[in-house]
Amino acid sequence: MQDQRPIATLGILGAGRVGTALAKQAAAAGVDVKVATAKDPRDISLILEFMAPGAQAVTAAEASAQDVVILAVPLHKFQDVDPKTLAGKIIVDAMNYWAPTDGIVDHFENDTRSSSEVVQSYFSESAVVKSLNHIGYGEFVGDARPAGDPDRRALAVAGDDEAAKAAVVQLIEAMGYDAADIGPLSAGVLLEPGSRIFSGRQTVESITAITAEECAMAR
Ligand SMILES: NC(=O)c1ccc[n+]([C@@H]2O[C@H](COP(=O)([O-])OP(=O)(O)OC[C@H]3O[C@@H](n4cnc5c(N)ncnc54)[C@H](OP(=O)(O)O)[C@@H]3O)[C@@H](O)[C@H]2O)c1
Repeated sequence: MQDQRPIATLGILGAGRVGTALAKQAAAAGVDVKVATAKDPRDISLILEFMAPGAQAVTAAEASAQDVVILAVPLHKFQDVDPKTLAGKIIVDAMNYWAPTDGIVDHFENDTRSSSEVVQSYFSESAVVKSLNHIGYGEFVGDARPAGDPDRRALAVAGDDEAAKAAVVQLIEAMGYDAADIGPLSAGVLLEPGSRIFSGRQTVESITAITAEECAMAR
């Protein structure tokens, strides 16, 4: 995987509610952002012009070639993305399994692993980091604050590859949030829908406290 260094480029797969909000904020932070769906980039260029000024509409292949790639597609569609196209890349899994919208998906219903571990086993040659899933698309731009602001919100990060996680922390901080490392990808379950971290605005301190409490209860 790549060494820790400033993020040069960001790819986002998905130009829906969350993909465009993340693209807007990253572009505003000076990150080179390339956004794609599975379709012709011309289909989303106008949307991006209005919703995420500065972000570029590209093909899925081009978005997948960036240093860090955020998966912002409906989770039931993650296997539409060819894992070979993301081999060696850092993936941010911003997706959630939510049966009312995803339908019942066996991968996630009948597996005791966190949803991101399931995603990691599919993208076996990439480093998956779970984050950005536990903030609403409508909050992402408005809740961003500069470093040191007393109202700055925190987002949790879980992953097994430390260098990948550090790169994602840099991205989150650049986009206006503190980042709280909660440990391995298995801890991503603490960020899933219905969890305490998922359900509220958090700080680094509150995420750390919730994680410690949940880990103690699981022992
Ligand atoms: N909504 C939120 O506030 C929020 C917040 C955090 C995380 N999330 C999670 O993020 C994921 C996306 O949510 P959303 O609300 O943004 O969904 P959405 O508005 O339905 O957008 C999904 C996007 O993914 C694209 N897409 C579908 N298949 C693709 C593929 N194979 N390759 C590239 N792009 C593909 C779609 O393109 P087409 O329209 O062309 O199919 C669309 O642009 C979900 O798992 C959700 O749980 C959502």
